[in-house]
Amino acid sequence: MIIIKTPEEIEKMRAAGKILAGVHKRLKEIIKPGITTKYIDEVADEIIEAAGATAEQKGYKGYPFATCTSVNDEICHGFPREDIVLKEGDLITVDMVVNLDGYLADSAWSYIVGEASQEVIDLYNTTKECLYKGIEVAVIGNRIGDIGRAIEEVAKGAGYSVVREFVGHGIGTNIHEDPQVLHYRTPVRGPRITEGMVFTIEPMINAGHWKSKLDDNGWTARTIDGSMSCQFEHTIAITKDGPIILTDQD
Ligand code: MF3
Ligand code: CO
Repeated sequence: MIIIKTPEEIEKMRAAGKILAGVHKRLKEIIKPGITTKYIDEVADEIIEAAGATAEQKGYKGYPFATCTSVNDEICHGFPREDIVLKEGDLITVDMVVNLDGYLADSAWSYIVGEASQEVIDLYNTTKECLYKGIEVAVIGNRIGDIGRAIEEVAKGAGYSVVREFVGHGIGTNIHEDPQVLHYRTPVRGPRITEGMVFTIEPMINAGHWKSKLDDNGWTARTIDGSMSCQFEHTIAITKDGPIILTDQD
């Protein structure tokens, strides 16, 4: 069941999204060669708490950290670690959910560490384009499945693959609500997009094969062929005037 949000609820989620966007803007400044993913997690958690909010991922289904920090071939749910030191040319995705007064916002952003190869820069740019192309078609009258179709077209056009095991989702007072938002094309066009829906679009794009394997920690997914993976995610609200990005950094 898709839970439609009132304008007041959307405003509450936008407030959570604003805090989250602030974290990403700060991370953009601090992410450089030599810092650990554990440090990134601590900085994010501190900013969220200082804003009077909480990091919703901590303890969610037993997930132990405020953020997911996924480096290079890690697709998602990378554990922040003291012994993962970022180096020149790495590609890292930081994903988090902010809870402000019970209302949530979810956004993952990728960062290039120092100077990277053209291959990494291209994957980064195309993945961002995938997110914004997906948002563009998230309008009343279209269907949820149209989002995945738009994303897959961009990814495939650039020679990349779209991760299938992890999808976008409705969000509100729970991290994961209906509908599921696939980032690839299927024969099913899915539910109609209507006013008051709030969901994430969060394409994970691989330079190689779309398949993933799970680490022994039971959480971290990485590409099966060791290829690089990138992700951008926003939480959006559907209005008569089009989608509003609740986690916008501008
Ligand atoms: N932010 C993630 C998402 O987009 C949620 C990660 S689940 C957690 O769905 F357990 F790692 F927190
Ligand atoms: Co999400």
